[in-house]
Amino acid sequence: MKVLITGGAGFIGSNLVDRLLAEDHKVIVIDNLNEFYDPELKKNNIISHQAHKNYKFYNADITDSSHIKGIFTKEIPTHIVHLAAWAGVRPSIHNPILYENVNVLGTLNLLEICKEMNIVNFVFASSSSVYGTNSKVPFSENDPINQPISPYAVTKRTGELHCYTYSNLYNIPISCLRFFTVYGPRQRPEMAIHKFTRMIDRGQKLTMFGDGNTKRDYTYIDDIVEGILGVLQRPKNFEIYNIGNSSTVELRQLIQLLENGLSKKANIEILDEQPGDVPITYSDITKLNKLSGFEPKTSIESGVESFLKWYVDNRELLLRIT
Ligand SMILES: NC(=O)c1ccc[n+]([C@@H]2O[C@H](COP(=O)([O-])OP(=O)(O)OC[C@H]3O[C@@H](n4cnc5c(N)ncnc54)[C@H](O)[C@@H]3O)[C@@H](O)[C@H]2O)c1
Repeated sequence: MKVLITGGAGFIGSNLVDRLLAEDHKVIVIDNLNEFYDPELKKNNIISHQAHKNYKFYNADITDSSHIKGIFTKEIPTHIVHLAAWAGVRPSIHNPILYENVNVLGTLNLLEICKEMNIVNFVFASSSSVYGTNSKVPFSENDPINQPISPYAVTKRTGELHCYTYSNLYNIPISCLRFFTVYGPRQRPEMAIHKFTRMIDRGQKLTMFGDGNTKRDYTYIDDIVEGILGVLQRPKNFEIYNIGNSSTVELRQLIQLLENGLSKKANIEILDEQPGDVPITYSDITKLNKLSGFEPKTSIESGVESFLKWYVDNRELLLRIT
């Protein structure tokens, strides 16, 4: 495969690149190394990729359609994994126009380019946030999703709808993956596991929103990469798949795991729940399992252990920039 990955310097993207290069695929990355979190972390993510003969990096913005079209025309990728986006629920509430611009218009730009190319498969990164405050668990792809509670969730659902339209109009095979809280080495610094680790490790006050009973379906990065590859190699006209661990962990339990792993106590400050937060995420992964045999293999205990190892190995860099 010749895989073009947007956002390939980020958390999920750079882990996917590791795997694709190890399997001898050709990889083209488009990433603008933006400032959502320190670009030095993203540069660190791709250090080992850059010398690889099958790897090419373009510092480009997906909202710049002529630049992106030039890259596609030059490289002629067979497969696309579109991960570039402004991620995160809470910041989208303060900056909805930026989120709409990158996540929706950026996606539309890519689809416009792809309609004129012979793409074998296009995978779009959606999110469990499209389920909003769905009270029926586990969340399944057929559940109603008409009540998103953040601009970020709206951009992800809109992205899915554009994908559906382009798949139908131009016969592009497109699959949307609804990721459920991904964690592991290189996780974004503002995400809970990474942020809590930093606070516990540095003896800083850990702000916990709500009483610690909220539940998340935490999915380890290697399982996510396995799932993306399974879908990428099985093109369908248009499909949406949940990709999660299909189990839940309470926030308090998560904090305890981090405390044990770091052998330090958290200094917890309890604050009110934040707008945009949901009480539970929990994936039904039957559909993806039927497609590719997808079965997450990593328990929260061993996944947290691997994350903490990465954190400790990179402590100096992280101390300087986060
Ligand atoms: N990590 C999760 O738990 C999670 C959950 C649900 C959905 N997702 C989605 O998965 C994708 C990857 O998430 P991540 O956690 O790896 O995030 P990330 O921020 O680490 O990676 C995104 C990458 O996209 C790049 N990017 C952003 N805007 C760009 C633009 N305009 N042009 C080019 N590059 C741009 C960033 O520089 C970054 O390297 C995102 O679409 C995110 O919304 C992630």
